[in-house]
Amino acid sequence: MKILIVDDNRASNLLIKKVIEKWGYETITAQDGEEAWELIQKNKVRIIIMDWMMPKIDGVTLCRKIRAASLPDYIYIILLTSKNKKEDLVYGFSSGADDFAIKPVNPDELMVRIKAGKRIIDLEEMAKKSHTQLMQSEKMASIGQLAAGVAHEINNPTGFVSSNLKTLSDYQNDIYEVIKKYKKLLADISVSVDIPAPVTEQVNNIITFEQEIDLDFLLNDITDLIKECREGTERIRKIVLDLKNFAHPGYDQLKSVDINENIDSTLNVVWNEIKYKATVAKEYGKLPLVKCYPQQLNQVFMNLLVNAVQAIEENGEIVISTAALDGHVEIKVSDTGTGIPEENISKLFDPFFTTKDVGKGTGLGLNVAYNIIKKHNGNINVESRVGKGTTFTVQIPV
Ligand SMILES: Nc1ncnc2c1ncn2[C@@H]1O[C@H](COP(=O)(O)OP(=O)(O)OP(=O)(O)O)[C@@H](O)[C@H]1O
Ligand SMILES: [Mg+2]
Repeated sequence: MKILIVDDNRASNLLIKKVIEKWGYETITAQDGEEAWELIQKNKVRIIIMDWMMPKIDGVTLCRKIRAASLPDYIYIILLTSKNKKEDLVYGFSSGADDFAIKPVNPDELMVRIKAGKRIIDLEEMAKKSHTQLMQSEKMASIGQLAAGVAHEINNPTGFVSSNLKTLSDYQNDIYEVIKKYKKLLADISVSVDIPAPVTEQVNNIITFEQEIDLDFLLNDITDLIKECREGTERIRKIVLDLKNFAHPGYDQLKSVDINENIDSTLNVVWNEIKYKATVAKEYGKLPLVKCYPQQLNQVFMNLLVNAVQAIEENGEIVISTAALDGHVEIKVSDTGTGIPEENISKLFDPFFTTKDVGKGTGLGLNVAYNIIKKHNGNINVESRVGKGTTFTVQIPV
């Protein structure tokens, strides 16, 4: 935590700096309010110890300036003063100071006051973190609700399109049979000798037209088209189902599931993100049913898969393997992405640890995954080599 000391008296400034650094804090110093204001803009200062009386901008004016600015973090301000009249203190507090120390400063007293400031800042930080986490989970819940709603709406039209296609395919088979019979009739007539000329002409017209439109091709292609449409609606139906299972918030109950199926349905949901950058190889082992919160595990798989694909620049591979081991199932998600530098490994599961650009990552994915796996009494580990790739291993007790 960086502490800024602002005092126009060099000796006093230096003394305070020495004392504070002895306690292990990092310090920066300024000689007046103006210089201090510049340093505050450029540094992540969390505590300021400053003299009240200074040239250019005095302590109280700087206090007001700091409070009026919308700085990203709260700064705890301790004013140093020889004023100790009640009115002075009230004036200082109302300008935004958090605490006072009477000059000349007693080091032990200053340490106690800094500790109090640090406590306030830690609390503020904690509140901010839990607020963001709460917002994140509320956002997830509302996205889930939205997705489930949209999925439901898509379900209905997909249902009748799919059922109509089935009927159409039955009709088409019958019509095809009739056309076959007509064609046979036409072929017979066209070679027959005792048919009146106008009929033969009509027959020949029909045969020419058939050739023009390539009737044989059309009849085959209609069958293929209907088949493809039916495959398409089947895919929509599966995606809708996956979305519904995946996203439905609040309905997650302990269930016995085949984890391989869960991974497949999650893969369906994130497939669009993956397909342009990576191939996916599945090496599924036969798994026993696992009692778990399936939607939460889906979220773990999703976070791992999205991280894997985000680590790949282009043409990578993701391997998902599962196995039943002694007393637990093991799921591995490997990628051929950038890998993780050694110094980041210990921070991966911390909330808000991210190396991604603002707006791309919030740094919550692995923290959420970790909490879910712990809730299942499981383990999550990582092995990685920079430039080679990363493997996350999840173990869940059966
Ligand atoms: N498969 C991976 N390959 C390389 N780095 C990874 C991988 N998975 C995670 N990381 C690193 O760990 C960091 C934290 O991951 P995490 O999923 O918690 O957050 P994020 O992906 O940055 O953001 P969010 O998941 O909230 O969108 C990432 O920013 C990245 O640096
Ligand atoms: Mg992530």
